[in-house]
Amino acid sequence: MAVKEVSKGIYYVGVNERTIHLFEGLWPLPLGVSLNAYMVVGSEKTALIDSVEWSDVECQLDNIAAVEGRSAEPDYLVVNHMEPDHSGGIPELCRRFPEMKVIGNNLTIQMLKGYYGIADDRFVQIGDGETISLGDKTLQFFKTPMVHWPETMMTWVAENSTLFTGDAFGCFGALEGGVVDTEFDTSRYIPEMYRYYSNIVGKYGTPVTNAIKKVGNLPFRFICPTHGPVWHDRIPEIVEIYSRLSSSQWEDGITIIYGSMYGHTAGMASKIADGLAEREIRTIRVHDASRSSMSDMISDAFRYRGLVVGSPTYSMNLFPPVEAFMKAMEVREVKGKVCGFFSNFTWASAALPLLEEYGGKLGWDVVATMNVKMRPDCGCNDTAGFIDALADRFRSEA
Ligand code: FEO
Repeated sequence: MAVKEVSKGIYYVGVNERTIHLFEGLWPLPLGVSLNAYMVVGSEKTALIDSVEWSDVECQLDNIAAVEGRSAEPDYLVVNHMEPDHSGGIPELCRRFPEMKVIGNNLTIQMLKGYYGIADDRFVQIGDGETISLGDKTLQFFKTPMVHWPETMMTWVAENSTLFTGDAFGCFGALEGGVVDTEFDTSRYIPEMYRYYSNIVGKYGTPVTNAIKKVGNLPFRFICPTHGPVWHDRIPEIVEIYSRLSSSQWEDGITIIYGSMYGHTAGMASKIADGLAEREIRTIRVHDASRSSMSDMISDAFRYRGLVVGSPTYSMNLFPPVEAFMKAMEVREVKGKVCGFFSNFTWASAALPLLEEYGGKLGWDVVATMNVKMRPDCGCNDTAGFIDALADRFRSEA
C-alpha cells in the first residue's frame, strides 16, 4: 500500500496481510489484518516504530524507501512489542541497516536475543518514562506490561500528540485505502475490534485497564496501534470500547451457546431465544458451538452481559465444542456474567454439574438452570420458569 503521512513527519510503513487465514494459527481473518509500522522523521534522527511478520518485511522495506526526506538508514528501531507479527522482520531490518540501534526495555532485549540472536552492541535499553530525542521530535517510552506480552510498551511523541500503542486499541481487518480514520469509513472495524480484543487480549483486562490509566491523560490526537486504522476522529469511542471490555462492563444482551447431537438441545436453545425475545430482550446472539467459530462465540460472550450455555451429556462430559468454549472462558478469566445453564441427557446426567462447576470457578451469577431427561417437551422441565428468571433479572437491571 502507498506510504501515508499520519501527522507531520510521521509515516505509515506497515503492510496489509490478506493471504493468511488464521491469526496466531487460531483466529479467522475474513477481512485480513494489517501489521502496522511507522516511521518518525525528526530534524536530526529517524526512528522506525515496530516491524512486521518476517514474510512481509520486503514490503515494509519498500515503504521505508518511499518515505520522502528520510535518512538513508533509520537511526533507531523502537520495539514496542515482540510478538512475531511485529518482530519477525527485525533480523532483516538489522541486516539492511547495520548502524541502526534497537530500542527496547530489559525484557524486550532478552527476547530479541532469544528469538533472533541480535548482538548486544545493537541495543539501547530504556526505562519507563525515559526519552530519546530525534531533534524536533522526542520519543518517550511507557512500559505497559501484559498488553499483551510482558515486554510491551507504548511510545509517545508529544510534538505530534501521537501515541504508538502496540496491540492496544487494535482490531482485525486489513486497511482499505486509508490509514487514519478521517480518510475512510471505519465502521466495519468495530465488530472486528470486539473480536480482536476478546480473542487476543481478553485475558489481560487488568493490565489493559492499568495501561489506559497510565497513558489516558496524555493529550493524544492520534492513536497508532499495531493493527487496524490509526484513530483520530473516533478516539473517544475506541478508548471507551477498550476501557469497558477491559473492566468487565458488558453491554445489555444475551449470548446463547449450545451444542446438540440430534436436535434436542438445539430445540431448547431456540425455545429460550424465542421466550427471551417475547419478554423484550432485544439483543440475543445464538451460536451452535459445532458450527459457529470459536472466535465469534468468544467475541459475543465478551460483549454481552448475559450468557446462556446448553450442552447434552456426552460420555459423562460436556459436549466437546461446548467444553472448548467454557475452557476459553476459563482461560480468559471472564468475569461478571449473568447466566443460565441448561442440559439434556438420556440415562446419566453429567453436563449440568460440569457447567455449574465452570460458573462457580468464574464467579458467575447463575440465575437459572434446567436439566432435561430425553425429550425437551416431555413435561419434566420448566422452560418458562427458566426464561422468566433470566428475563426478570435483565429487566430489573435495565
Ligand atoms: Fe499483534 Fe500481540 O501481537
